[in-house]
Amino acid sequence: MNLPKLSVRHLLGIRELSRDDILSILHVAKHMRESYLESGNKGETLQGKTIVNLFVEDSTRTRNSFHLAATRLGASVLNVTGEGSSLSKGETLLDTVRTIEAMDVDAIVLRHPAACAPHFLADRCASAFLNAGDGRHEHPTQALLDAFTLYERWYDATDPEKSGFEGKRVTIVGDIAHGRVAGSNIHILRKLGAEVMVCGPPTLIPRGIEELGVGVTYNIDEAIRSSDALTMLRMQLERQKQALVPSLAEYSRLYGVTHHRLAQANDRGLIIMHPGPVNRGVELDSETADSEESVKLRQVANGVVVRMAVLAMLLQSDI
Ligand code: CP
Repeated sequence: MNLPKLSVRHLLGIRELSRDDILSILHVAKHMRESYLESGNKGETLQGKTIVNLFVEDSTRTRNSFHLAATRLGASVLNVTGEGSSLSKGETLLDTVRTIEAMDVDAIVLRHPAACAPHFLADRCASAFLNAGDGRHEHPTQALLDAFTLYERWYDATDPEKSGFEGKRVTIVGDIAHGRVAGSNIHILRKLGAEVMVCGPPTLIPRGIEELGVGVTYNIDEAIRSSDALTMLRMQLERQKQALVPSLAEYSRLYGVTHHRLAQANDRGLIIMHPGPVNRGVELDSETADSEESVKLRQVANGVVVRMAVLAMLLQSDI
């Protein structure tokens, strides 16, 4: 396959990607799934390349799927974490990255608590940077894998001019103010032509969010009745500086999706997404988290193929 070129050298955020970039990534991810995962073939696209996973915040899904994506395409992977590296001795992030770059690497996947940390490094270093989550700012590969999960369901190959997202309503539910997934998902869904709503307590919805072309509802039952997909977000307690809901139990009573509430869903095949990790009994009850409508494990599987696509496209080898 001849890889389409992206309009960017780094994957810093969804904001920086054009609609064509996004559709190309989804198309290449589909190819990755068919050519490598479903056939069991091992790729050699990234043979000779070295990818660094630099994670200064915890991760299960993103870090391990970047690792698998790189190795399934033949790359070598170096894993560096905040606690186990000289960052914990006071070395600056820039010095750490320049030190790693001196070992001859090609791309750096960075998760960092500071917003725009990858943008700062991309301006000062030679490697390709991929943002694996920067504070509450962006999580672009999560948005791409979420979009790919919906694209698999909604894209109609007989109507290739359309993305499949036109006429669909996606509601993002929960802590919109503190989650980076919300920001990246709003941008990608709008670029793909979906109608986007957010739902949650007023204290967790940023003022002025309508300026992004997003509708707001404070009623989860209305969201369930009117949506084609729900993206459920975890309460980001680690980023909340004050109590923004009376209690998790109260939040769950008002905004949690339960199997009782799901009974009101329309007959269009409601999809329930969650980027993980799930706090069972808070944003989703266990019956819903493990139900047929829930695609959280498909999202995890799609994370590998989407990350294979972006690594291959940014490093521009032939596949
Ligand atoms: N969705 C997500 O970013 O999960 P991890 O924190 O486990 O990587």
